[in-house]
Amino acid sequence: MSLRKTIVGQFKNPHGWLGSIAGWIMANRRSNRQRNLWTVDLLQLKPDDRIIEIGCGPGLALEACLAQAAAGEVVGLDHSRTMLDQARVRNAGASSDGRLQLRLESLDELPPGLGPFDKLYSANVVQFLPDRAAAFRKIHALLKPNGIAATTYMPRSKNPSRAEALAMADEIEGHMKVAGFVGIRIEELPLRPVPAVCIIGEHA
Ligand SMILES: C[S@@+](CC[C@H](N)C(=O)[O-])C[C@H]1O[C@@H](n2cnc3c(N)ncnc32)[C@H](O)[C@@H]1O
Repeated sequence: MSLRKTIVGQFKNPHGWLGSIAGWIMANRRSNRQRNLWTVDLLQLKPDDRIIEIGCGPGLALEACLAQAAAGEVVGLDHSRTMLDQARVRNAGASSDGRLQLRLESLDELPPGLGPFDKLYSANVVQFLPDRAAAFRKIHALLKPNGIAATTYMPRSKNPSRAEALAMADEIEGHMKVAGFVGIRIEELPLRPVPAVCIIGEHA
């Protein structure tokens, strides 16, 4: 297997030194920074929002949330210790003053009692979730009434296409409707080689 494929294979659950490299790539790739900041902008954060990111990776978007919700609380959840270590270093101030909580957990095995949140989001994670219908039921349960969930996805297959991105968006819209979200809309961010999509909905 090529080194590139080996590193890309780490994105689902980065670990060890190859996982650290994968985290460095996520934190420094221009298009990834754009996708993450765009997702946070779409959430239209309020200063005192309580926010959770699923699969926070190296903590790029957490940094943006902490800046925009300056009196809020932010939780970063990831099942990779390697990623949480990078997120902690990137957000050291907020981590030590208690505004940022980093949790080593999988969305698949969430402990009871987490939440409720005003805003919930993920970027580049949904493709790794083994049961997306169940995941969106959990996501709905984590939100306050009128809370907002945003899911950003950009296909990373060998020959990615806009159709692939929109097919995932349609699938997620369906799971969100069943889970109880309303006002669902799909946004696109023009990136190369294909746009990123973000599916946003409100907790009814
Ligand atoms: C491609 S990375 C994206 C990281 C970050 N969101 C970003 O865009 O820079 C995917 C992240 O999701 C995490 N992840 C994947 N499945 C997960 C799950 N079921 N529960 C929690 N974290 C998960 C991985 O450990 C990894 O950090």
